Amino acid sequence: MASSNGHSGGSSSSTAPRAVPGSYGLPVIGNLRDRHDFYYRQGQDKYFESRIQQYGSTVLRINVPRGPFFTIDPKVVALLDAKSFTTLFDLDRVEKKDVLVGYVPPVSITGGYRILSYLDPSEPNHDKLKQLMFNLLHSRKDSVIPAFRSNFSSLLDGVNLQVGNGPVDFNKLNDVSAFQFLGEAFFGERPAPELFTSAGKWLLLMLSPLFSIGLPWIVEEPLLHSVPLPSILVRKDYKAFYDYVFKAGTKALDNAESMGFSREEACHNLVFMMGLNSYAAFKLMLPTILGSVAGSKDKSSLHARLATEVRAAMADAGGEVTIASVERMELVKSVVWEAVRLDPPVKYQYGHAKRDMEVESHDGVRYEVKKGEMLMGYQPCATRDPLVFGATAGEFVGDRFVGEEGRKLVKYVYWSMGGDEEPTVGNKQCPGKNFVMLVGRLFVVELFLRYDTFSVQFTKGPGGNKVAFTDVTKATS
Ligand code: HEM
Repeated sequence: MASSNGHSGGSSSSTAPRAVPGSYGLPVIGNLRDRHDFYYRQGQDKYFESRIQQYGSTVLRINVPRGPFFTIDPKVVALLDAKSFTTLFDLDRVEKKDVLVGYVPPVSITGGYRILSYLDPSEPNHDKLKQLMFNLLHSRKDSVIPAFRSNFSSLLDGVNLQVGNGPVDFNKLNDVSAFQFLGEAFFGERPAPELFTSAGKWLLLMLSPLFSIGLPWIVEEPLLHSVPLPSILVRKDYKAFYDYVFKAGTKALDNAESMGFSREEACHNLVFMMGLNSYAAFKLMLPTILGSVAGSKDKSSLHARLATEVRAAMADAGGEVTIASVERMELVKSVVWEAVRLDPPVKYQYGHAKRDMEVESHDGVRYEVKKGEMLMGYQPCATRDPLVFGATAGEFVGDRFVGEEGRKLVKYVYWSMGGDEEPTVGNKQCPGKNFVMLVGRLFVVELFLRYDTFSVQFTKGPGGNKVAFTDVTKATS
């Protein structure tokens, strides 16, 4: 495969395919031991890295806690390099039905409907529901920049006021601002500030079997990881969120009706799109961008270059932030790609093998996989693959994607479940791809319009990165 050092990966196409190495351990005990390693002893990165070392392979049989302990089979074939991971993009070989997060939460938590994200493109509703999402994003494209700027300039006004009094928790501010921004961007109406708490409870209930929230395992395993929690616990919260979307999303629902959907089914899909697809991911992505840019090794030169680029592009655009002016900011684009490469917001992707097949690793070894087996890609291993990104694969290099050579590497940034191809109604790639990149860039733009530089406290937590501003230097030019 292509790589930063021109290495093409030794091909063993003439040799016989190998059995996938690895072990699931003893029934129940193997799973229990691996869950403990995964959540509490090693953490996710070490869990995978240590097993890659142990078996000398980036394609492995491994247990992954992909749902409640008592209901979900943890056995997967893990794809842990930049080449084998792309098997998951190939819909001729992989079925994406009901695999979004590795298991299916009870449909009662999404109003009784199977939502777009759980549908394989071969299912009848997939294309039409995805088209609905494209229509919504297209119809609201002019509102993204103003909605982002108004919500995030208020957030940064708050930072300016508080930063002299101690660290300012960015995640806490972002939890409200990101939610309000999304409501305004998608539906033209800011949700009430307290609605983000309702959305948060609903998300927590849906995703709780998949994460550690930092409690001791003796509490967390029986409480959150053993059986799905009943959706009745968040019924009121979900209803409040649904009611907001039903009222604010009138135009999108009119469009859905004209496409043959009931308003109810479409609304549940829009709630999921705003809540899980967008909000949950932005809660992770924006702190990651901030932490990466503030923590860069060459911070003072990177910040100076970013400030110059942002302010010059703004000046050229007559003092406006526009899609075209942001598109010209090569370094801004690069830092956003680099942040999501190093720490992708959605780390796991799944798919069932549609038939007996071979999976090829980055070093050209072919492995046999049987029809029906669950394939799982852990994205950080794929997007930090040293055969693609070289010796600095595990480091934040702000200008990695600048210039002609740099741009060639963008196709190895898989955050949207694709490389350089575009999302379509026929694939499973994130329809929010362009929206998300725009928002990441707008965030960097907003920071460097206000500040020459800034510092943060950064903590890698079990439920995502935690970032707090500790100092900001206001823009001097
Ligand atoms: C940081 C932000 C985001 C990240 C990291 C992200 C990531 C992803 C990923 C990895 C997938 C593929 C999941 C899979 O099937 O394995 C996906 C699918 C999807 N995303 Fe996003 N997403 C983000 C924001 C958004 C936004 C803003 C929207 C709004 C439209 C959106 C809507 C969807 C939908 C509807 C799907 C399912 C697509 C399909 O079934 O074909 N996402 N996203």
